Amino acid sequence: MLEGKKIILGVCGSIAAYKSASLIRLLIKAGAQVQVILTPDAANFITPLTLSTLSKKPALVAYFEPETGQWNNHVELALWADLILIAPATANTLSKMANGLCDNLLTAIYLSAKCPVYFAPAMDLDMWKHQSTQANVEKLKSYGNVFIAPGYGELASGLVGEGRMAEPEDIFNFVLSEVKKKLPLANKNALVTAGPTYEAIDPVRFLGNHSSGKMGFALADELAKLGANVTLIAGPSLQQNKNRLVHRIDVTSAAEMLDACNVYFETANVCIMSAAVADYTPVTVASQKIKKQEDKFTIELKKTTDILKTLGEKKRDNQILVGFALETNDEEKNSIEKLKKKNLDFIVLNSLNDIGAGFKADTNKITIIDRNLNKTSFELKTKEAVATDICLKILDLLNK
Ligand code: CTP
Repeated sequence: MLEGKKIILGVCGSIAAYKSASLIRLLIKAGAQVQVILTPDAANFITPLTLSTLSKKPALVAYFEPETGQWNNHVELALWADLILIAPATANTLSKMANGLCDNLLTAIYLSAKCPVYFAPAMDLDMWKHQSTQANVEKLKSYGNVFIAPGYGELASGLVGEGRMAEPEDIFNFVLSEVKKKLPLANKNALVTAGPTYEAIDPVRFLGNHSSGKMGFALADELAKLGANVTLIAGPSLQQNKNRLVHRIDVTSAAEMLDACNVYFETANVCIMSAAVADYTPVTVASQKIKKQEDKFTIELKKTTDILKTLGEKKRDNQILVGFALETNDEEKNSIEKLKKKNLDFIVLNSLNDIGAGFKADTNKITIIDRNLNKTSFELKTKEAVATDICLKILDLLNK
């Protein structure tokens, strides 16, 4: 969710400045670009070198760096940022921000910014309780800045009370949830299936297929980036979750996948079934390894439950259900039949006749056909880009 987000982290002169190091690590790990701006006093508490190393960018303190001749343009920096986070925010900086003072690089950036600003105060108990500090916080909130409340506990002075900066993990999670709230799929639950299923023959053998799960994992990632709460039900796959917010449930067989889907479908707003589910499973599973005997060997198979069709039968009008069709011939005709039979909002067709489409590849070439039989064909793209196209169609339907 913070992937590629440009964040200015303002660090003020408080002992809590040491916590900024952990905060930077969390932001960088989440994929954000972090530009640290220290107030001159902050540089006495934590070195710019430490923060530059962690943020992978030179931490800036002054408008002008005489040693290098570098001019740090506050307007450019303010416009670069998608978000400004001031943590720790001292009583002094809060007061300047509330009253429009800009006597250092950080306050000048704040005053020039158009993006959301978050501030996490840190100061001693009595400074925090002071009427002027409280008034400044209220003023900043009334300007639309987002307040991250300080915690209660032992302070650097030895006093115990409110005023210590919120913990880096809490600040990080707060920012994450605020960013998420503004995303188009905020408060929506998404259910995705991915990968193959394995149908056991005996304790060492199974019937499976070549699905890698790449498409489903890319979809789960994209839905999470758009703010959805994603449950990914994955058959056996070597893929790794790209997004730590995706709730992954590992299953093996079609029956296990069906059970998991039934649990999560009730609360799902969007369901994309991209798994290559086995259509047949052995009637019996041998409890011991089957020994070779005859020249010919037959396994009796029975049909699995069609998960997508089952969900289509109980789908409510406010749920979006999407299926996949992997075809080798009569592609459109077969897809439209599946779309209707399984009561889908749209179907994603990929043909094995297209080079670069289908199992294992990093790319896919799809055609989307919706229930009004509108048809959109796309170029060959990475599976991540295909996931974006599919999600755009979902956003389109949700906005209708
Ligand atoms: N699907 C499913 N449960 C199954 C079989 C398929 O949920 N037991 C889903 C797949 O995840 C996919 C869609 O149904 O979204 C299409 O699957 P596919 O196997 O291509 O279609 P079938 O209806 O099984 O038809 P056929 O195998 O005859 O092509």
